[in-house]
Amino acid sequence: MTSATDPSAQDFATMGIDEAMIKKFVTHFYNVVHDDEILGPYFHKQMDATWDEHLDKMCNFWSAILLKTNRFNGRPMPAHTKLTGLQQSDFLHWLITFEKSIKACCPATSVPHIMKKAHQIANSLQYGVFYRPDVMKAKYQLDE
Ligand code: HEM
Repeated sequence: MTSATDPSAQDFATMGIDEAMIKKFVTHFYNVVHDDEILGPYFHKQMDATWDEHLDKMCNFWSAILLKTNRFNGRPMPAHTKLTGLQQSDFLHWLITFEKSIKACCPATSVPHIMKKAHQIANSLQYGVFYRPDVMKAKYQLDE
């Protein structure tokens, strides 16, 4: 999830992105998510007992994305394709909720970069979760 036009380490420092800021927004966001009517139930179903582990994992994830630290070695796609009942509108709600936490916890200079990354990842997760080649095949009578 990086590209040639991604900011450098110096740019991150200028934007105020560091581990402390990541921990702050991850904690804020998942506190909100935990009690959110739409997003909360996806987490309660399986993981109240491992909530702190999830927060550590998400700090590592955002550290890898925003600071390129390589600290995350999870597999986001299967974690989301296995969720039952996930709607496309849930992703929009996730992004709106996430942006509120980012604006509450992070310097204004960092908001566009963090939100750009969140949108890119949300798009790719949606592609994986909602991609239905079998439906396309039947509809357009494709051979393969
Ligand atoms: C509708 C929106 C979303 C819902 C309901 C959702 C829900 C979840 C749940 C329940 C898990 C825990 C799965 C498990 O450990 O068994 C999870 C893991 C995770 N989510 Fe999401 N998520 C959403 C969107 C996103 C987005 C947009 C991102 C990134 C920008 C993201 C990043 C992650 C990551 C990195 C993990 C850890 C994956 C792993 O264990 O390797 N999620 N999510």
